[in-house]
Amino acid sequence: MTDFSEAPQLIDRFGRTVNYLRISITDRCDFRCVYCMAEQMTFLPRAQILSLEEIYVLARTFAELGVKKIRITGGEPLVRKGALALLQNIGRIDGLDELVMTTNGSQLETMATALQEAGVKRLNISLDTLDADKFKAITRTGELSQVIRGIQAATLAGFKRIKINAVILKDRNHLEVTDLVKFAVDNGIDISFIEEMPLGIVNQHNRSDAYYASELIKTDLARHFILAPSLEKTGGPSNYFNVVGTQTRVGFISPHSENFCSTCNRVRLTVEGRLLLCLGNEHSIDLKQVLRDNPDNTDVLKQVIIDAMLIKPEKHEFNIHEQPVILRYMNMTGG
Ligand code: GTP
Ligand code: 5AD
Ligand code: SF4
Repeated sequence: MTDFSEAPQLIDRFGRTVNYLRISITDRCDFRCVYCMAEQMTFLPRAQILSLEEIYVLARTFAELGVKKIRITGGEPLVRKGALALLQNIGRIDGLDELVMTTNGSQLETMATALQEAGVKRLNISLDTLDADKFKAITRTGELSQVIRGIQAATLAGFKRIKINAVILKDRNHLEVTDLVKFAVDNGIDISFIEEMPLGIVNQHNRSDAYYASELIKTDLARHFILAPSLEKTGGPSNYFNVVGTQTRVGFISPHSENFCSTCNRVRLTVEGRLLLCLGNEHSIDLKQVLRDNPDNTDVLKQVIIDAMLIKPEKHEFNIHEQPVILRYMNMTGG
């Protein structure tokens, strides 16, 4: 019988320890961002998704295998009924250092305080533009003012190190990087700029034309701010700089121009119960089936998860200039 008591257990073929799990608790979202989804989306039927109880059991099992950080994602995680109770339960799991969440901010005005009380430590909030019309064009259905109020509510609720995520697209929002950093500085929060990744086919959006490399953003920002390299890491792929004279950090997530896979420490659980070993590859294991076949024995589940590490790919192979190889949209993994 395998002894599961000694963490860490999750080590892949390349010697990388996996101690970070990203759980997508719904594929649904109230926005339809152009880089993330098609305009007309069919979401998963209820029968196909994990129950909240199953998500909790999986989260606890991963923690028992040495996972220290769990990030809740979507779609938009806060549109799932019962999300708050699930967070409260995950927040109480022994051995977990950090429960964090990525959200589009649309529900934060009413939920920020409850999230803080549930034990969520940090929030990453998507915000690509400060122009209401552009915001509508990029998210297709979102309201900028609602998200701004959400960010303010999160700050008032006492969240520290809130981070904005901005996917930068040439000719859509690339001229706004300075204003976005100013917004972050004025609000005492951090910001990451993200190079768009080609996941799923989106009509009327050409990813090759929209590509805007992190280096160009750094050049733009250098005209207004002094960015000093920071050694701080959050366990994610952001490469951080301090904006000198402020509390704000600016991160760059550069899957194309600066591959970060050699330090990858994370795997993803989709709401269908698939353990996805890499965002940019299809390698996955159906944990829902294992869980349902062995309801009273998580040792089987643990062994399957440990063995899954052996198929974790070395790196993603994104090519922004070709049709996407990965047909899964970003809302299946929440990034
Ligand atoms: P922290 O570092 O904990 O603040 O989080 P994060 O920046 O890793 O997570 P977040 O959910 O805010 O994701 C920001 C962007 O990073 C999204 O576009 C994700 O798709 C991307 N990202 C996160 N992890 C990976 C990864 O393993 N591979 C790739 N290619 N992109 C990733
Ligand atoms: N490429 C890069 N980032 C993306 N996101 C959604 N789709 C993409 C994509 N195709 C970002 C969102 C959110 C985070 C979870 O992932 O803006 O902040
Ligand atoms: Fe929703 Fe986030 Fe995808 Fe936008 S990027 S459609 S907010 S899941």
